[in-house]
Amino acid sequence: MSLRTRFIGCGSYLPENIVTNQELAKSVDTSDEWITARTGIKRRHIAAEGEYTSDLARQAAVAALDSAGLKPNDLDLIIVGTTTPDEVFPATAVTLQGQLGLTGGAAFDIQAVCSGFIYGLSVADSMLRGGTAKTALVVGAETMSRILDWEDRSTCVLFGDGAGAVILRADNGADESNEAPGILSTHIHSDGNLRDLLYCAGGPSTTGNAGVLKMMGKDVYKHAVTNLANVVVEALEANQLNPEDIDWLVPHQANRRIIDSTVKKLGLAEDKVVMTIADHANTSAASIPLALDVAITDGRIKNGDLILMEAMGGGLTWGAAMVRW
Ligand code: ACO
Repeated sequence: MSLRTRFIGCGSYLPENIVTNQELAKSVDTSDEWITARTGIKRRHIAAEGEYTSDLARQAAVAALDSAGLKPNDLDLIIVGTTTPDEVFPATAVTLQGQLGLTGGAAFDIQAVCSGFIYGLSVADSMLRGGTAKTALVVGAETMSRILDWEDRSTCVLFGDGAGAVILRADNGADESNEAPGILSTHIHSDGNLRDLLYCAGGPSTTGNAGVLKMMGKDVYKHAVTNLANVVVEALEANQLNPEDIDWLVPHQANRRIIDSTVKKLGLAEDKVVMTIADHANTSAASIPLALDVAITDGRIKNGDLILMEAMGGGLTWGAAMVRW
């Protein structure tokens, strides 16, 4: 039994093509002012034709492996959080495993929409501490642009494509204090009674095609504010920590106003929040590892920092992870 799951690498990838709000307003009845005021989004990256979720995942995974100083063969577990898999099957994680040239270990996808990365961390943490695997790659990767109705201005302006990845390793030598590095706790929830608030209207068993994203924005917003406030308190209490102990909040980037509400609830200073929504928009399962990589690369997140991650998405699903970097 390992005591702690440690982060030993992080990487991310964004498609080259950037679409600004102004560009979007040429084809959809919207404006930069509306999108910025309601969401904080200014631009988003959109995958090129022929560029798939597994391609974004691979670029992020290679960057994460490089930062950990590892080779693909060092991995024995790959989990990809995605709601936009390349195909119905095989899992995008398995496709990625093949692209990385791996023949051993286990690979599977997690479908928890925007909470996919938190769910992935939670499952990987259990497997690593339980001894099922030793070194895991956890990726959040999405091509949300492929499931948007580009004529529905209430949804198509909100999302973007991208991928982020972390490398996790079981650490037998860690102590159990909340000062020791690694995942201190994860907390995952879902409520299927709320499925109609945010869903993709299609699938192999219903329409036979992937369908497009449908959302009751105002209701999702209200549940996000409540559920995220509750889950961050749950994560703090589980570790006997206070909001002032948090060095960085790395939230799912769905809407600046939702993030601001969590920040207010915690009484956090704004400069303790990693905010990427303006440049990335909502990249679903990819948004947290993308934001994490930005703040590691620019030197904000340092060894020993306490990081709180949280997300909510379709399902509804939501969750949080408390991490000592
Ligand atoms: N441009 C211009 N006008 C628009 C646009 C647009 N892109 N979209 C909607 N409008 C119009 C509406 O038609 C409406 O017009 P009307 O008053 O004439 O009927 C008006 O703007 C207000 O629309 P609302 O839907 O009431 O706007 P609201 O203030 O709720 O903001 C938003 C919409 C941004 C979607 C908000 O509800 C939200 O962020 N919800 C959370 C959803 C979310 O983040 N989902 C992501 C997945 S879940 C998660 O990750 C948390």
